[in-house]
Amino acid sequence: MNKDLISIKDLKIQDIEILFQMASDLKQRRKRGEKVIHLLDGKSLGLLFEKPSTRTRISFEIAIRELGGSSLFLQSDQLQLKRGEPIGDAAKIFSLYLDALVVRTFNHDNLIELAKNASIPVINGLSDFSHPCQVLSDMFTIKEKKGDLKNIKLTYIGSGNNVCNSWIYAAAKADINLVIASPKGYEPKDKILKEAQKINSKCKIELIRDPFKAVKGTDVIYTDVWVSMGEEAEKKQRIIDFKGFQVNGKLIKLAKKNVLVMHCLPAHRGEEITGEILDGSNSVVWQQAENKLHLQKALLVLLLTEK
Ligand code: CP
Ligand code: NVA
Repeated sequence: MNKDLISIKDLKIQDIEILFQMASDLKQRRKRGEKVIHLLDGKSLGLLFEKPSTRTRISFEIAIRELGGSSLFLQSDQLQLKRGEPIGDAAKIFSLYLDALVVRTFNHDNLIELAKNASIPVINGLSDFSHPCQVLSDMFTIKEKKGDLKNIKLTYIGSGNNVCNSWIYAAAKADINLVIASPKGYEPKDKILKEAQKINSKCKIELIRDPFKAVKGTDVIYTDVWVSMGEEAEKKQRIIDFKGFQVNGKLIKLAKKNVLVMHCLPAHRGEEITGEILDGSNSVVWQQAENKLHLQKALLVLLLTEK
């Protein structure tokens, strides 16, 4: 595994398999009551966040604590970064005090700059470009529910955003048949689709505008908010443009009967998904949220102990 986790693009399928194996083991041990497992005694994890977070922040903080280490939440506007300290200098300072750093940032390039200048592992806890920890734990959830990821059909309905980008790389790495239904103007970038094709020339990623066609016979329906963090100024227009792209009872009838309905959360009931479906029997959103803890624990162990 590389020093950092910036994108699923950088992982080998073997890395992903090891992560899943370890996450599953740690999950079972926690369920048996073995809550603290001393694999990372004395290690310190920093969380440098520019945007709000509930799940990612809490799951990483608890993950390191339950592995014997501790965490430090660093709100970026309270650091000298806010006053113009160069990112590269800050990265060197973080590396003196901490053993790893999770970063949630607007600008993906900042993440790359941090990782380049830090000697410690840097983990992408969401950028405008991607959300790899989310999609890795979601892949793990699908594997738990369906047994395998290979040839699963996953239909992503919504914006070609950070979460969608991570699904594109995941599809290329794990041979998932990915169908993306986005409104006109909100499709994922061609460059990313081409990159996926380069990673795996046999990867199956299709763009189908009509959500009702896109979900036909699908194993998984995945959606995310119409307005991501940082896009609030576009909210009014987006609500208009995404009309017809809601995951609701009518839509899921066209998928397989045992279709998994997934959402990274936070959800906006009544916008991208109805409350009835989010809280319904096909939904696995709470399992997804729980699995962030187990998967991220595995990730920390691998990044901090692998030589
Ligand atoms: N899904 C997710 O990353 O949630 P938070 O924004 O609450 O961390
Ligand atoms: N696409 C969303 C994901 C939140 C977890 C956002 O970036 O706000």
